[in-house]
Amino acid sequence: MNEAVQTSSTFTPRVFSGIQPSGNLHLGNYLGALKRFVDMQSDELQTLYCMVDMHAITVWQNPADLQQATRELCAGFIAAGLDPAKSILFNQSQVPEHAQLAWVFNCVARMGWMQRMTQWKDKAGKNQQNASLGLFAYPALMAADILIYHATQVPVGEDQKQHLELTRDIATKFNHDYGVDFFPITEPVIEGAATRVMSFRDGSKKMSKSDPSDASRINMTDDADTIAKKIRKAKTDPDGLPSEAKGLEERPEARNLVNIYAALADKTVDQVLADVGGKQFSEFKPMLADVAVEKLAPISTEMARLMQDTSEIDRILAHGAQQAREIASPILARTYEIVGMVGAGK
Ligand code: TYM
Repeated sequence: MNEAVQTSSTFTPRVFSGIQPSGNLHLGNYLGALKRFVDMQSDELQTLYCMVDMHAITVWQNPADLQQATRELCAGFIAAGLDPAKSILFNQSQVPEHAQLAWVFNCVARMGWMQRMTQWKDKAGKNQQNASLGLFAYPALMAADILIYHATQVPVGEDQKQHLELTRDIATKFNHDYGVDFFPITEPVIEGAATRVMSFRDGSKKMSKSDPSDASRINMTDDADTIAKKIRKAKTDPDGLPSEAKGLEERPEARNLVNIYAALADKTVDQVLADVGGKQFSEFKPMLADVAVEKLAPISTEMARLMQDTSEIDRILAHGAQQAREIASPILARTYEIVGMVGAGK
């Protein structure tokens, strides 16, 4: 048995999260995930943040674009404040243990569990027969991403909640089926004022990289003028801002802009409304544009600078993958041993 691997219910706290390199990073990714990754980075806690390129190919990716997007995402991680000396930064495909554990989990998870995933239903659409098998199995790979490190906390936006519940179900079933207490029951960390950033064109739809309208989102690569213009044009309602959060109910567009302001300014929604209650959007939007430009423009400038030296980015990713494998490899070996694979756990 591999003694280096924890097998009890008291797991050392460890943070894991991932983002797909499948297009531009946008404000939803930043506020719902990336900014929270930076907040959780500390000297006391091990943090691993991954560019999930294997998840990205569940739908077609042009190979050259995927490479570019992976490096740009890594630049975005660092520009937003992740420090490769403090957090392990890597791309998923360089750590083969993710795919290896995912196969075991494919054999633990049930078809019915996968069929209930709302993201599968949304992404596959009406033509499920034509979707890739990888898209269907996507959440089992996601569970493997997390559990290959025995991660206990996973910061994500609201839209990943169901996948994290499935991760808990897979861990529970594995532990139960094999009579072990091997995988932790991971906690989702869905916190902050902007866990679900909505589209600027339609307050009932989440901000997303797949929305055909570029005006619906702020991309992390947008310049200051573009950011200000998109905010100026964002859909709102004719009323002024309320003084209390209750006044934002049934006003999705207004609530979205206030949530974004609060998250960017590191304030609570109540604190923001105490300041801006009574103002019209014509006054609030320039305030929002100012804080957005102040916080986001330095990130996009730094991303562009980092992208001038992609060999340094590749070096960071390779080093991160090596560090990640040191944690993942004994956990995979022990998993194989539990499952009954000959030659495992040596
Ligand atoms: P992805 O790449 O779609 O999104 C990355 C992160 O951004 C968050 N997010 C949002 N948060 C708030 N408002 C929005 N409009 C918004 N849009 C996106 C997502 O919740 C996510 O946290 N399956 C994951 C990637 C993944 C992963 C993992 C995450 C693969 N393995 C393991 C955590 C742990 C995904 O597709 O996220």
